[in-house]
Amino acid sequence: MKRVIGILGSSNPSGNTAALLRTCMHYLDGRMIDLSSYNLTGWDYHHQNADDPFREVASQLVKADIIIFATPVYWYSMSSQMKIFFDRLSDLISSHPKMEGNKGIGRSLAGKQAWLVATGADQQLPLGFEVPFEKTSEYFDINYHGVFYKSVQESQSYTPEEDRALRHFLSSIQEYLPTQT
Ligand SMILES: Cc1cc2nc3c(=O)[nH]c(=O)nc-3n(C[C@H](O)[C@H](O)[C@H](O)COP(=O)(O)O)c2cc1C
Repeated sequence: MKRVIGILGSSNPSGNTAALLRTCMHYLDGRMIDLSSYNLTGWDYHHQNADDPFREVASQLVKADIIIFATPVYWYSMSSQMKIFFDRLSDLISSHPKMEGNKGIGRSLAGKQAWLVATGADQQLPLGFEVPFEKTSEYFDINYHGVFYKSVQESQSYTPEEDRALRHFLSSIQEYLPTQT
């Protein structure tokens, strides 16, 4: 069983964010899921979308110890795929009869570890970009640790400094993985 799960929210399955997340998953021996391939629909107060694949995606989180969210910066914010996924996390705290069973999924997220990876054209992440990741993690009692950001402004390839920073980021995640026997 993979202990690390990477959640890709990008409009490009072969783009910059996917490439970064793939590198992370390779290093950490994790499994990547692409939100775009699930066609999740937005938050619905009447839960008419209760049978879409959100529950399937959420239950994959339960199996992992470490969650890595991956999003490009689209208009100073997370991608729409990631935002829909975050909005749908509300399904895990809803008392509606159609959401039966989801609360267990929500509760079982507690104690997991989470990080964020992001790519964008600008040199730095927009101010406050991490807030939803940090606060939503806190809400579900997930320990959020921080972000690795790759600016693709100059080039999509990694400078030696970026490469070092990424390795450092990944090895700090690896410390949370129990050593395999
Ligand atoms: C719709 C759209 C909006 C974007 N908005 C921003 C932005 O606000 N800030 C930024 O730094 N880059 C922005 N970019 C550039 C992307 O973040 C960058 O190219 C990123 O690496 C794309 O990742 P992807 O290949 O996973 O889509 C935007 C790109 C697109 C397509």
